Amino acid sequence: MRIYQGVDLIEVDRVKDACERHAAFGEDIFTEGETAYCRARPDPYPHLAGRFAVKEACLKAFGLGMGGFGATGKFREIEVESAPSGKPTLRLHGSMERIGKRRRIRQATVSISHTPAHAVATVILLGDDLPPGAAEGGASGEE
Ligand SMILES: CC(C)(COP(=O)(O)OP(=O)(O)OC[C@H]1O[C@@H](n2cnc3c(N)ncnc32)[C@H](O)[C@@H]1OP(=O)(O)O)[C@@H](O)C(=O)NCCC(=O)NCCS
Repeated sequence: MRIYQGVDLIEVDRVKDACERHAAFGEDIFTEGETAYCRARPDPYPHLAGRFAVKEACLKAFGLGMGGFGATGKFREIEVESAPSGKPTLRLHGSMERIGKRRRIRQATVSISHTPAHAVATVILLGDDLPPGAAEGGASGEE
């Protein structure tokens, strides 16, 4: 069993400013489901910032640095789904899903907390042991 962990803390105003200055920012980063969930809240920005923190925490858990990760559109491949209880679940799509399969990830947990000023998220991935010689990988060579 292998454990991968990532954490990220972000200022809510950074996400708010980016959303307000560049209309495309939100579309590049968040899925429709994430946007709908957050926009339904009285102040969507702590919730959006929490989801942004999840995406960065997930990249950290995978050891994928921003430099090697490529287009910001990839952020949409890391999605937070919220149960009616509010409990968040991590969903990986596209190239992130493929990376997860190569790492033999079988379970992922995510936790979010926020204040009006800051949001923090942790991501923990549990994966089966990799076969001998299999590269755990980093930013390069993993789409
Ligand atoms: C879930 C709960 C702990 C959130 O705590 P909070 O201090 O209000 O808010 P935080 O900023 O720390 O966390 C908010 C995040 O918690 C997460 N969350 C909400 N419900 C959750 C649940 N059932 N399980 C896990 N995570 C949950 C969400 O990701 C939420 O952020 P989001 O709406 O942007 O997705 C709290 O709202 C709650 O409902 N607790 C239930 C237990 C309870 O009532 N205890 C009181 C006993 S005194």
